[in-house]
Amino acid sequence: MKEKILNALLGKTDYVSGQELCARFGVSRTAIWKVMNQLKEDGYEIEAVSHKGYRIVSYPDKITAEEVASRMKTRWAGSKIEFLEKVDSTNNYAKKIAENGALSGTLVLTENQYGGRGRRGRIWENPPGSSIAMTLIVKPKLPPNHASMMTLVMGIAVARACREISGIDMKIKWPNDIVAQGKKVCGILTEMSAEPDSIHYVVIGVGINVNIDAFPKELQEIAASLQSLTGKTFHRADLISKCMEEFEDCYQEFLKTEDLSRLMKEYNSLLINKDQKVCVMEPKGRYTGTALGVDANGELIVKKDSGETVSVYAGEVSVRGVYGYV
Ligand code: BTN
Repeated sequence: MKEKILNALLGKTDYVSGQELCARFGVSRTAIWKVMNQLKEDGYEIEAVSHKGYRIVSYPDKITAEEVASRMKTRWAGSKIEFLEKVDSTNNYAKKIAENGALSGTLVLTENQYGGRGRRGRIWENPPGSSIAMTLIVKPKLPPNHASMMTLVMGIAVARACREISGIDMKIKWPNDIVAQGKKVCGILTEMSAEPDSIHYVVIGVGINVNIDAFPKELQEIAASLQSLTGKTFHRADLISKCMEEFEDCYQEFLKTEDLSRLMKEYNSLLINKDQKVCVMEPKGRYTGTALGVDANGELIVKKDSGETVSVYAGEVSVRGVYGYV
């Protein structure tokens, strides 16, 4: 009952009358009043005005399927939400359900990811209750070599969403780190299942540091959250739905040409490495050069110090500034 009544109030700016709630859910006024008190205990501030009804004035920063769904304005991205109180990794779970028929656009969310994974076998830590760990399933009719471009598509979407919500200028460190004031705010991990010439599914996992007020000493120089940068806290459900809106928009552009032709200009304007000295670390060795920007396939064009120009494919490669993280 609590969920049903919450859903009836979420996303409404106007009052919802007690009488309407009683009739809709077939319960007494006392039952409605009890639910309102439970919601207040959960952190919702609810205004009750006689002859008008109930209205949510402020809500707690909680990630639940209802909180996120009530804000979602997309056509397909995040149209189905799978919320888990806790899970090892939202990417692992997304792969499992994608295998068993979950639809394109399904979004996996959790409040507590205890075995998060990053690129190149690294661990991704998400403090429960203050960050975002989410994975979107997409099932495009494209050849498998297009999947890595989706990391860049999501990168633009998350950079746009974080900037809109926080007001801070966001940059991208190729291919998948969203950076603000030189520190990492978000990482993206894209994985897929495919045959030689078709994709079964792609899962795009996004970890965003939102309301984390302090980082361990060893991370202070390289990691930040929207809160540590602004001193303010943000509603994660708002940011999740904004990311999905922006992703839907960027993905539509991506599908028009099946590459990044229409998004390249924006990506390069966000690219923190653009025209900067970088160190490219490949499994077989490293070299330095100047990053010129990405091409329509999302590869990073680097002019090596030796004078040769190469395109770097994301895969197992890492790119750093020659003097540190960026
Ligand atoms: C990186 O920067 O190396 C990528 C980090 C990706 C982390 C996200 S959190 C949600 C999703 N689930 C995971 O296990 N990883 C991704």
